[in-house]
Amino acid sequence: MTDLHEHQYLSTTRDVYKEAALTPDVGLCCTTTPVWQLPELSIPKRMLAMNYGCGSTVHPRDLVGQPKVLYVGVGGGMELLQFAYFNRQTGGVVGLDVVDEMLGACRSNLAEAEASNPWFKADFIDLRRGDALKLPIESNSIDVAAQNCLFNIFRDDDLKQALAEMYRVLKPHGRLILSDPVCDQAMPAALQDDPRLRALCLSGAIPLQQYLKRLTDTGFGTIEVRAKRPYRVLSPHHYATDQLIHIESVEICAIKDPMPADGPCIFTGRTAIYYGREELFDDGKGHAMTPNQPLAVCDKTAAALQRLGRDDLYLSASTWFYDGGGCC
Ligand SMILES: C[S@@+](CC[C@H](N)C(=O)[O-])C[C@H]1O[C@@H](n2cnc3c(N)ncnc32)[C@H](O)[C@@H]1O
Repeated sequence: MTDLHEHQYLSTTRDVYKEAALTPDVGLCCTTTPVWQLPELSIPKRMLAMNYGCGSTVHPRDLVGQPKVLYVGVGGGMELLQFAYFNRQTGGVVGLDVVDEMLGACRSNLAEAEASNPWFKADFIDLRRGDALKLPIESNSIDVAAQNCLFNIFRDDDLKQALAEMYRVLKPHGRLILSDPVCDQAMPAALQDDPRLRALCLSGAIPLQQYLKRLTDTGFGTIEVRAKRPYRVLSPHHYATDQLIHIESVEICAIKDPMPADGPCIFTGRTAIYYGREELFDDGKGHAMTPNQPLAVCDKTAAALQRLGRDDLYLSASTWFYDGGGCC
């Protein structure tokens, strides 16, 4: 990609989100993920209309103990408000964006939220100008970092840079929560290179395995694929493609755990169940199973158990809905 094109895709992204800040576009990143309903949480209408994410990055189990949160690419501020719901500290959630109009819209949505949510103070959120590619944040200072529907827009080198930045600012064992479209089919070059379609989160989607590799290449030792849902279909009637292209949205948590010597632990919803005659089955590598009790296992462990060739061990396929448990 030439410098000219490089510049064009980043500037088109800013133009698209300037437009989306000034005139809310409810269909922009619409998804089937339900919006959180939480006691005493009221989301202003305009903030809801500016929900430009393709999933959720807010999960209560990541948010115990008032972790310091960084959220990059703020949109209308809905997820900032949801993170603040759990954090409730002055400056506990930092929100960054490069589009001034989006920061302005977000700020006014948060002011409206302050009026309708007695528990919420706008200064819980430290809203600032800042670029995902060069975070104005100290290294090793963040417990939970999140981005929703931004990194898919980036070309590969920028994606690597954005992930490296998130990794840098996280504390050891800190969590990066991501929600993005992915696509296992080949995306035609004409679509990939269309800056507006990229900005609209339609043509920058990469295969899930490549997305996971970018995360583990960055250094994250544990990965959880928490959700995968149908997201969009690009049809030849509307786009420069000769076949239907199916896009899914994923929610992933990448944890800054040390990289295990035998490779990353990637949880995709695989489960092992021992149903033999012994009281306990122990693989000698930290996985002890009592009969007929499910154990969530990472893909690496599932593959190792499979290689044992036992006829008293059930191994499920990936459900792509991993929400707890662990083996490594
Ligand atoms: C698809 S919207 C998602 C907004 C929000 N995360 C949500 O879920 O509603 C992408 C957001 O990223 C912002 N953005 C674009 N380029 C950025 C960059 N390089 N660094 C930080 N934010 C950026 C846009 O202004 C916009 O707010």
